[in-house]
Amino acid sequence: MRKPMMAGNWKMNKTINEAVELARAIRQEVDGVARVDCVVCPPFVDIPMVSAELKGSNVAVGAQNMHWEASGAFTGEISAPMLKNLVEYVILGHSERRQYFAETDETVNKKAHAAVAAGFTPIICVGESLEQNERGETSAFVSGQVRAALAGFTAEQVKAVIIAYEPIWAIGTGRAATAEQANDICGDVVRKTVADHFGQEAADAIRILYGGSTNDKNIREIMEQPDIDGALIGGAALKVESYVAMVRTTSELNQ
Ligand code: 13P
Repeated sequence: MRKPMMAGNWKMNKTINEAVELARAIRQEVDGVARVDCVVCPPFVDIPMVSAELKGSNVAVGAQNMHWEASGAFTGEISAPMLKNLVEYVILGHSERRQYFAETDETVNKKAHAAVAAGFTPIICVGESLEQNERGETSAFVSGQVRAALAGFTAEQVKAVIIAYEPIWAIGTGRAATAEQANDICGDVVRKTVADHFGQEAADAIRILYGGSTNDKNIREIMEQPDIDGALIGGAALKVESYVAMVRTTSELNQ
């Protein structure tokens, strides 16, 4: 059984004080809520304080990015050894990073290898643009992104990786994919690509999240889908009420 995950991507939001306050409130509200992996991914500078605040709780911490080298002349970057003991997860290849910071399939793959080698669980983001979607290129594009991101991994390693399908047109637009649309891509494209390249066992084990305008209203329908194992949440993860409601709904569905 794949354990459902509600992962909050806080993006470039929250000062240190605000982040600690939000983390504390989430910690209190989800205390005792079972059968859901809760993850928050704050900005880098917030991570040490948030990580300390959440120590011993059922909320894990993730980073939003990471460089593939351990150290060196890479101004502005953060490496795996710097994140050691602070995070369990790292989001890689988010479409905003691909779009605004020139991340490629190749760098996402390098980062994924560095993350796994460091003992982190990568949450690798894939997803098509509106234009690609309208041209009917979604399946081929997303499948290619999945293959590229997982190149060089063993089937055993792939089982522990997380893929987040986030159609770019659904991010921050209030226009989520329908639950069926999202499930089709998560199952028939992402999971199928994993099965084709790493075998059915890896495909059955890998967790696939959906991201893009998820909230406490649509999460039930999304989490009822068989091939969706969780959500990567943007805006709705910045408010205690909506994030916690999403965690509770997911927990109820997984009774
Ligand atoms: P929204 O939930 O704000 O659409 O953001 C989704 C996202 O990009 C999460 O990584």
